[in-house]
Amino acid sequence: MADFPENSSPAPGLPAVEGGIQRIVLIGFMGAGKSTVGLLLAKHTGWDFLDLDTHIETTTRKSARALFEALGETGFRQLESDLWASALQRSQAIIAPGGAVIDRAANQNILRESAGSFIVFLDAPFQILIDRCLQQEQEGGATYRPLLHKTEIARMRYEERRVLYANHAQRGIDVARQSPELVAQEIWRAVFELHD
Ligand code: S3P
Repeated sequence: MADFPENSSPAPGLPAVEGGIQRIVLIGFMGAGKSTVGLLLAKHTGWDFLDLDTHIETTTRKSARALFEALGETGFRQLESDLWASALQRSQAIIAPGGAVIDRAANQNILRESAGSFIVFLDAPFQILIDRCLQQEQEGGATYRPLLHKTEIARMRYEERRVLYANHAQRGIDVARQSPELVAQEIWRAVFELHD
């Protein structure tokens, strides 16, 4: 049984397998749907959802914009690294870091060494991701994304990171042509297959 059961919230959850999957980590560029898919997965599995950007904001009690302005990108990245390690020790959790988490070698090592993480790369072409982010920005309420209007820098980072995301994930999913719900179902199915 891999599809989400209807009308269940939370769903029965994953089988408790010792040494098995403890958390699902969603990586990918901004606009890939990490938070949307993560929330759906959390709803269906009954696991906790942790959005790392939001976690940084609640921990520091400052907005991402204020943190970027006060500390610069490097300072923000340091805070992100500090919280990344503890995020990856959580059990029964869906973790969605910001797209930049993969840039730092130290963060990559922590991800690679996090036993029990099922790491999924949400992938789509650059322009689709940028268009989604621009639309979210217009609608309001989107994550603060200082890269968004620096298209050439964003494109360069996309190209560099895409290789890193792919190298660190156990599963890649094309999110360009599927709804977040279908993406979440595909991830759930993959988790069950791994437990079989
Ligand atoms: C960033 C992505 C954002 C956020 C910050 C920086 C990036 O997270 O952490 O604006 O450099 O790619 P999302 O990937 O959730 O948009």
